[in-house]
Amino acid sequence: MSISFDSEKGIFSISTENSSYIMGITADEILTHIYYGAKVETFPNISGIYTDSIIKCMGPSYNKENPYISTAGIYQEYPTFGSADYRVPALKAEYEDGTNVTRLVYDSYRIYGGKPALEGLPAVYTHSDEEAETLEITLKDKYSQMRVILLYSVIKGFDAVIRSARIENGGKEKIKLRSALSASMDFYNAGFEITYLSGSWARERHIKKLAVTPGNFAVESRRGASSHILNPFIAISETGANEKRGEVYGYSLVYSGSFIAGTETDEDSVRAYMGINPFNFCWTLEAGDSFQTPETVLVYSANGFGEMSRTYHRLYRTRLCRGKYRDTARPVLINNWEATYFDFNEEKILEIAKKAAECGIELMVLDDGWFGKRDNDKCSLGDWFVNYDKLPCGIDGLAQKVNALGLKFGLWFEPEMVSPDSELYRKHPDWCLHQKDRLRSESRNQLILDLSRKDVCDYIVKAVSDVLENANITYVKWDYNRNMSEVGSALLDPERQGETAHRYMLGLYSVLERITSAFPDILFESCSGGGGRFDPGMMYYMPQAWTSDDTDAVERLYIQYGTSLAYASSMMGAHVSAVPNHQVGRVTPLEMRGLTAMCGRFGYELDLSKLTDEETETVKEQIKLYHKYENTVHKGDMYRLLSPFECDAAAVEYVSEDRKEVLFFYFNIKGTPAIPDRKVRLDGLDAGAYYRNTGNGEVYSGAALMNMGLLMPRNSDNFSMLTVFEKL
Ligand code: DGJ
Repeated sequence: MSISFDSEKGIFSISTENSSYIMGITADEILTHIYYGAKVETFPNISGIYTDSIIKCMGPSYNKENPYISTAGIYQEYPTFGSADYRVPALKAEYEDGTNVTRLVYDSYRIYGGKPALEGLPAVYTHSDEEAETLEITLKDKYSQMRVILLYSVIKGFDAVIRSARIENGGKEKIKLRSALSASMDFYNAGFEITYLSGSWARERHIKKLAVTPGNFAVESRRGASSHILNPFIAISETGANEKRGEVYGYSLVYSGSFIAGTETDEDSVRAYMGINPFNFCWTLEAGDSFQTPETVLVYSANGFGEMSRTYHRLYRTRLCRGKYRDTARPVLINNWEATYFDFNEEKILEIAKKAAECGIELMVLDDGWFGKRDNDKCSLGDWFVNYDKLPCGIDGLAQKVNALGLKFGLWFEPEMVSPDSELYRKHPDWCLHQKDRLRSESRNQLILDLSRKDVCDYIVKAVSDVLENANITYVKWDYNRNMSEVGSALLDPERQGETAHRYMLGLYSVLERITSAFPDILFESCSGGGGRFDPGMMYYMPQAWTSDDTDAVERLYIQYGTSLAYASSMMGAHVSAVPNHQVGRVTPLEMRGLTAMCGRFGYELDLSKLTDEETETVKEQIKLYHKYENTVHKGDMYRLLSPFECDAAAVEYVSEDRKEVLFFYFNIKGTPAIPDRKVRLDGLDAGAYYRNTGNGEVYSGAALMNMGLLMPRNSDNFSMLTVFEKL
């Protein structure tokens, strides 16, 4: 990794092991994007590329000598609103005198070791300054005292460039930011496709791919959460790129609120952009104030989507997730939600825990319904004190009894919410997000607390901490079950109401920082009605997230496969649940449910006391199997071999860090008779080495496994198998 500036040519060059990112300063002092792609050590005379504009249809110009030099045509790094560029701007500012034209020109730069933390925001981190290098380029507005500092960091060992922007108001007058994106980049249109993750509640992160065609295509959330519908991730790839071949550029936003990411294509170029969604966003910068955007993590792969994903997995697992559980083993858990829903008491929970202990499960998680008078989803959010009718010995007493069975104890919270039917709401009706004299729309009978307020954040920290301090709790599930509406805050001035949603996120991040650092021994799992906030922002505080409320094994193959485009297996909560499945009614074998869940953070979510003896034995074996291979699944490299989005089967492979252990998971979803077996080729092996199938002892060369492949049966529904190879 290295960053350099050629002052003669005015060229910035950022390089990672396999990629280069190059920018230049034009004669008109505009910071222009020159190149991002496979590593180039030297480059031809590129002055022609960046000083001349690509001639755009009617592109207005400031340049009298060369009227073709227009921001409509120059490939920019941080385009602004108001003049000749008609595409999506990275920055839109409004000034006190009613003007809204910004003209950013190059001012200065700084290169230094390390990667700075972003105040109040989650971010990729390093352990030492030697691990990273950062370039800060300062642009100044020709018309005001506003400065934009663009940050670019690279970290040793990763083909990633991490971008964000800081906007500073150095003048005396207010500036209103209507849009401040994290990254924008103009590419020559070589024919691209865009891949993104979309879905719904219980159907999160299915893979979608479209051709990048003229016009603006945006993947976005306006919901105040990263959302089930679209995830803050896109990949732009050369047409036809697949898992192993082709250039792919990943864009991933370290943020959990409303976002936008997209491509805008005009006559010849493609602008790719990502950041906080400008929808309902307006941030006032007082004199001397600054605004820091979240960061976009760009990953380049010359070898298809597989390599891009493995870079994200390793980077996020080791340099975004934090805390004790980043590297240490996490317990296999049993969660009572699908076993009992709200209908439980101490006796029932202990019955499940007892059976769990017998099976070898290590953690009992008590889900929703333990507090206030919550017997359904109509009340009590905000009243975080135990319901003694259900749990006569309190949380502490229950935790002790669960501990006595040899299990750890974990608890569910939904701290950001309030039920209108709660003591908290009756006491503080203005503590929720709302707008004055407007109806407050409810979702799942609840409102969202206004985390843009410090007093509300303090309340949440205290309420949750009080429970955690008074019982032996070693795991917390942090849920969030609705999206924002009537977004406004009782404490913000009218002109600052457009700041509410982002201030909420800053409040949330401060709450999470305070709680997770006060309880470093607790494993936190984030959740949002399943995977509605499955994003890098939350992963910074909580190393795993509940992937989806859909626990059906077949549905999970799609969801986990899609999720793996940007997120590691170690981040995906995955449980074995009962059949017929509660979401789709499908009956799948216990073996398949087990193997599917083993591709994530393994657990159970069913009434174990109803298992037959044979099923109990299977569960015991599954837990042993998971523990045997969890290191390879969670710390190894993942290869996607067969996509359920492209055929009626799925296959994934994990290769251990030392490359000696290979796990091959195969799932045949739909049985089809009278057709030949399916050939699946393995990946990531050493072609010249030999591998033994630990099941039947057969030995194959890496070349044979990768080129000839293995023949897999396809004649029965919901067939699953795990084959383990050891390198000889
Ligand atoms: C939504 C979560 O995704 C479920 O797992 C469960 O915790 C419920 N909320 C409880 O209300």
